[in-house]
Parts: sequence; C-alpha cells; structure tokens
Amino acid sequence: MRFVDIIEKKADGEALSKEEIRQMIEGYVAGEIPDYQMSAMAMAILQRGMNDEETTELTLAMMHSGDVVDLSSLPGIKLDKHSTGGVGDTTTLVVAPLVAACGGTVAKMSGRGLGHTGGTLDKLEAIPGTSVEIDMERFFSIVKDNGVAVIGQTANLVPADKKLYALRDVTATVRSIPLIASSIMSKKLASGADAIILDVKTGSGAFMRNTDEAFTLAKTMVQIGKLTGRKVRAIVTDMNQPLGMAVGNSLEVKEAVELLSGGISPTDPLYQVCLLLGKHMLMAGNLAADEEKAEQMLKDAIQDGSGLKKLQRMITLQGGDSSYLCMEKIDQMIHVKHMVDICSERDGFVTSMNAEKIGTAAQMLGAGREKKGDAIDPSVGLVMKVRCGNKVQKGDPLCTMYVNDEKRFAEAKQLFLQAIEITEEEKEKTPMIYGVVTEEDV
Ligand code: URA
Ligand code: CA
Repeated sequence: MRFVDIIEKKADGEALSKEEIRQMIEGYVAGEIPDYQMSAMAMAILQRGMNDEETTELTLAMMHSGDVVDLSSLPGIKLDKHSTGGVGDTTTLVVAPLVAACGGTVAKMSGRGLGHTGGTLDKLEAIPGTSVEIDMERFFSIVKDNGVAVIGQTANLVPADKKLYALRDVTATVRSIPLIASSIMSKKLASGADAIILDVKTGSGAFMRNTDEAFTLAKTMVQIGKLTGRKVRAIVTDMNQPLGMAVGNSLEVKEAVELLSGGISPTDPLYQVCLLLGKHMLMAGNLAADEEKAEQMLKDAIQDGSGLKKLQRMITLQGGDSSYLCMEKIDQMIHVKHMVDICSERDGFVTSMNAEKIGTAAQMLGAGREKKGDAIDPSVGLVMKVRCGNKVQKGDPLCTMYVNDEKRFAEAKQLFLQAIEITEEEKEKTPMIYGVVTEEDV
C-alpha cells in the first residue's frame, strides 16, 4: 500500500493494521517516508486516535527500531518506574534505592531534563564524580552488587522516538494520547524491565492538563503492558504545584537525602508519592503481599538508613563522591553567590500555583535547558517555602532562589511571582493522589 493511502485511512478514522504500522515506523526511520507525510500521519492520529491494539503495535514497532536491553541475567523481577514529567519530582532518587533496600532489583535507564521539567541524570551528575554513561557490563555488575543502578539510555534506544518526537514538537502533535503512550512505553519496554510503575501527572505542570485525560493515558499504557506481557500499573498524581519543595539539581538531591534520612514528614506530597510508587513496585516484584506490608518495609528502610546506604553505594559504584550524601555535608555540594527570598506582595491564601512557570523560573536561573545540549548549573534553582493552602502575609517568603548568574534573575523572579496565586478567600485544595490504574481496575 502507498503511504499516502495509509494516511488517508487514518484520516478517515479507520484502524491501521499491524503491517501498516510496521511499514510506517520502518519507513520513517529508514528515511523512505519523508517528514511531511509523517507530519500528516501524526496529525491524523491526533485527530482520530488509535485503539489499544494499534497503540500497542505502534509501541512494539518503535521499540524494535533500536537496541532492546535484555535484563534476564539479573536476579529476580526487574522493576522500573517512570514519571511523565514534572517539577520538583525527585522520586527516582528516593524510590529506586528504597526498593533495592527492600530486596528489589532496579536496573534503570533515565533521561535528562528539558524545558520546565527536570531529569534524573542531571540530578545524579550534580553529585561530584558521578557518571551516568556506563557500559552495559559495568551496569549489570553494579546492579548485581547493589540491587540498583541508574544510567542514561543507550544511544540507540528507540531511534524512532527521537525522530518522531522532534517532528511532533514542531507540528503541534505532542499531546496525542496514543503518541505519548507509545513514546513512553516503547522506551520502557526496550529498557527491559518486567514490571513498570508509571506516575502520570495531571495539572498545570503536566502534559495532561486535566484528570480525565491523565486517566485515559494511564489506562492506555496499562493496556499496552497487558498486551505485551509486562506488569504495568499507573498512579495518577497532582502536578498543580512542585512535588517536592526543591526545584534544581543539587537542591533536589538534598531533598532526596533528607527524605531518606527520615527528615521529611509522611504527610509531605513527595513522601506520599514516593511511598505509593514504592509500594506498587514491591508488590509487582512479589516482595510484599499487600500494601500494608509494603508500606512498613519502605518505612523501615527510611528509619534504619538502609535506603540511604543503597543510594550512597550506588553513587560510589558509579564513580561519585558519596560522602556528600548525608545531611551534615550535603550543603557543601551547593555553590551559589546569592540566596534571595522571593516574598509575597499581599496577605491571603496560596490557592494555586502554576508548576510549569515555577519550573521555567528555575530553568532561567540555569537549572534547566532551553534546548538539548545546553549547559546547566547544578547548584542553582529554588526552594519553595509554601504549599497550596498555606496562609501568607505580605513580606513572607514564598521561595528562596539560589542564584549564580544575575542576568536573568529579574525575569525568573517575575515569572515565579506570576505562578503563585494568592487570594483573600481560601479555596478547596486539589487531591495529591487521584487514583491507581491496574489491569483489573481503577
Ligand atoms: N514523554 C515522552 O517520553 N514522550 C512523550 O510523547 C511525552 C512525554
Ligand atoms: Ca480501548
């Protein structure tokens, strides 16, 4: 079939066959299908959607466009997690070592931050000496020794996604649910884990601005897991404010260390989401019979310091200086010229935040990238002083900015203040956790 006829079929709202989907991805990666035809196809998919079978075939075709990692030589059920992009989301640095401390195997490949969202690799590299570019043999040996390692994706992991994502980015087709689901799941499946726990964000800082769409994305990805024989569960969580208080690479490492040292309250959103992810990882790995048992195991690993030890040992094995990873020394990792409080301009209640703007403000200070390959400053960023629902008075600090480059400070401050809505009346808070999607039910 000519590709133009396949585009027309999708534009008419028909389901594509496995062969048509294969032909599309193979042809596009090989350069036989030009960008203009693929753009039309991406728009047709955005407009007409795909059913779960098509989305799964698309995921598999993309997965097989490059390296597929075989983790079968590692012991036990290999566990992975993924968050769909957030601000102040430091969950991997907390959950991966905690799960390993509870007996899990976490051989994880992570990504870098782009735009307003952070990335785990940049946070790891903020710890002096730490390498995330590690060959497979060494990666496997670290996981065998320590139960956990976190490295960068291999260069040839899902090349179809790299090409297609760049195209979607400039053709207004990023927000298609089948395209997002296949993009995320192709990389997860190619990374080799047996069980994957997804954290789908909803709210101002997320891809999915509304909760219904977030649940649809979560269900689509759980279905892909079911149809490909992997255990996939998803939690849907709030991104209407930064998840943790810290936004910035070293600052987020500090917050992770603080949580693993028992210094963060169990009512804190970051703590809650970490525990929920960890519980589902332990249950998916057959390491805990139920949620209650899993929760106790994770809390014990915080209490007795075994989670922090796993993180420290992982950093040592990845070439880093783990002596920084304790509350006594962690501030020595953060080098800034100025720490500036940004204060409230009025009395009232913090009723909403725009997490995307807060992430962008941190990026302007140098914590993130505008485009791929930009340098980042690991020390800069901001630490929130308030949460949604808090009462503030004029002059109270809303955050502290950690600044090295004064040039964009005024702009970052302006954007940050725009991101915080303060009203006279108290408004109802959005929940932190909206629900859990499993193969069986929501
Ligand atoms: N994250 C991805 O990896 N791909 C998308 O399409 C959206 C979010
Ligand atoms: Ca369906």
